[in-house]
Amino acid sequence: MSFAGKTVLVTGSSRNLGYTIAAAFAEAGARVIMHGSHGSVEASRDKLAAAFPQAELHAASFNLGDSAAIDAAFASFKEQGLMPDVLVNNAAHLGLGESDFLKQTPEHFREVLEVNLFGAFRCAQLVAQHLKEIGGGAIVNISSLAGERGIFGRSGYNTSKAALDGMTRSMAQELSGDGIRVNAIVLGYVWTERWNALSEADTQRRLMNTPAAAPSSQEEISRLVLFVASEAVPTLVGARIVLDGGLNVQQVPRDVVV
Ligand SMILES: NC(=O)c1ccc[n+]([C@@H]2O[C@H](COP(=O)([O-])OP(=O)(O)OC[C@H]3O[C@@H](n4cnc5c(N)ncnc54)[C@H](OP(=O)(O)O)[C@@H]3O)[C@@H](O)[C@H]2O)c1
Repeated sequence: MSFAGKTVLVTGSSRNLGYTIAAAFAEAGARVIMHGSHGSVEASRDKLAAAFPQAELHAASFNLGDSAAIDAAFASFKEQGLMPDVLVNNAAHLGLGESDFLKQTPEHFREVLEVNLFGAFRCAQLVAQHLKEIGGGAIVNISSLAGERGIFGRSGYNTSKAALDGMTRSMAQELSGDGIRVNAIVLGYVWTERWNALSEADTQRRLMNTPAAAPSSQEEISRLVLFVASEAVPTLVGARIVLDGGLNVQQVPRDVVV
């Protein structure tokens, strides 16, 4: 799958899943804009450049919770001829800690939604305005099973992913006439370095909870992102593709007697 000649923005690509998605696009020949909330994204860009010396890689840092900062970043992309053909809305505030529904502050709840929903909205809107002018492109929203089945104690995150799924549907309907395909990839357990911090018992419980008995790898997810963003599937519009090792199809984990 070639993305030669295409510019791709992967939000939240300073580490973990976003980094691996950025690497997959770089390998496929795209010009990639890597992104994070602070300057460390430049070190990530340099690391990826060492792996793919032929790739054209850029680094942009802006806070997705700050719409003025998003607008300024896109103004700079426009000036540099770096407006994306493909946007992957991957960045997320995971809403860990302080998220107990009864105790969390309105500020914390709002912060999670600002990043995961409003930030994704504004990036998508600015990219879509550009894509309409050039005749089309693709937007992939990275969602989570948390959008349909809440993770206990993570109400802000759960709410933001449910809303992102709703936004995906609206965007897909309104933008497909302009050649802009919008789809969501819905994830369950993803292997990231956070798995290394789990106790053996917690790791085993997660594996037992997943029919595939393994988390999705970042590489597997990246292959799917590239496929969904590619011209191989021109009528894939508004899909909500669940890649979760079967987590969502079971009534209860297999070690629970029903
Ligand atoms: N990991 C999982 O098990 C899992 C499961 C289901 C869905 N997902 C989804 O997959 C995606 C990636 O997850 P991940 O585990 O790789 O996330 P992660 O390790 O927490 O990385 C999050 C990325 O988002 C960026 N980011 C966070 N807050 C930001 C802000 N305010 N402004 C700009 N950038 C910000 C971070 O950049 P900085 O480091 O510079 O802040 C980082 O690059 C997310 O959409 C997540 O909801 C993950």
